[in-house]
Amino acid sequence: MAAHSHNHAHTHDGIDWSSRLTMLRQADELDAEARRVVARRLVRALPEQPTVLDVGCGAGGMSVALVEALSARGGGTVVLVDATPELLDAATAAARAAAAHVGDTTTATVRVRPVLADLATERAAGIAGPAQLVWASNVVHHLPDERAAVVGLIEAVAPGGWLALAEGGLSGKFLPYDLGVGEPGLQDRLSAARAQWFVRMRENTTDSVRMSGGWNLALSAGGLVDVTAFSYLVDHPAPPGPAVRDWAVNQLKWYDEGVGDLLHPADRRTVRRLLDPHDPAFLGLRDDVFLLTANTVHLGRKP
Ligand SMILES: C[S@@+](CC[C@H](N)C(=O)[O-])C[C@H]1O[C@@H](n2cnc3c(N)ncnc32)[C@H](O)[C@@H]1O
Repeated sequence: MAAHSHNHAHTHDGIDWSSRLTMLRQADELDAEARRVVARRLVRALPEQPTVLDVGCGAGGMSVALVEALSARGGGTVVLVDATPELLDAATAAARAAAAHVGDTTTATVRVRPVLADLATERAAGIAGPAQLVWASNVVHHLPDERAAVVGLIEAVAPGGWLALAEGGLSGKFLPYDLGVGEPGLQDRLSAARAQWFVRMRENTTDSVRMSGGWNLALSAGGLVDVTAFSYLVDHPAPPGPAVRDWAVNQLKWYDEGVGDLLHPADRRTVRRLLDPHDPAFLGLRDDVFLLTANTVHLGRKP
């Protein structure tokens, strides 16, 4: 078990995050190469021995990338923050394993510190103190008041430090246009259903506050300067390796369970056939499955 600062923490979005550990781990594996590049790019601008926060760390894919990037340039501290104990433990184990591994050689020591906390009610600055880099990927949109959450993250940034907020980009694709079963173009209809699910998720989030405008505006309004963004691709072309294959089947399962009621019945039948290992249309047997996603990282510096 990781050293938790609290016994209980929960999220506000109605999602059972602990049940998503396998999916998050699978996605981490597929995102690893791209995130390694992002982590190196982000730590390049930091002073010696920085503290880096990975807020809403999930299964710890980026935590590992940050540990490796820091260890390659003199070491530092990576603080992992999440509200889901199972995910925080998994991330801590992965990050510590990476720290131990890189520590074997001539590379520098990286400390890993886990903190169990609900970011909707606790301030990141109070949890971990000033950080030269705060990374928060796809967590702020799970918090009731996104604008207040951004302000809370900015408070945790040391003067001269950076906030890197990964939110949005292009919705991921993994299916060919015409699967040969059902109507062509299923991917786009799945994405449309997911967009509806997202609206519902925000509405069902307890005490949800609507944030109008883009993330860059929230960063600027929070007092950051040099606000900009870049996007990174996660690109695994067909034919899929075992990791992409497993991820794609689990992803389609998520669509079936999460947004099945938002699909046309004919599409739902297609999805069920694609998920049936005994059906010749089973997705897990196809060689034309892939993964292509673009993730946007919004950046700002604290003056
Ligand atoms: C979509 S996952 C993102 C995981 C990881 N950052 C990534 O990009 O792969 C969202 C994460 O936010 C965490 N989370 C959700 N609500 C939270 C809250 N109120 N406080 C802290 N963490 C929260 C969940 O436990 C989960 O690990």
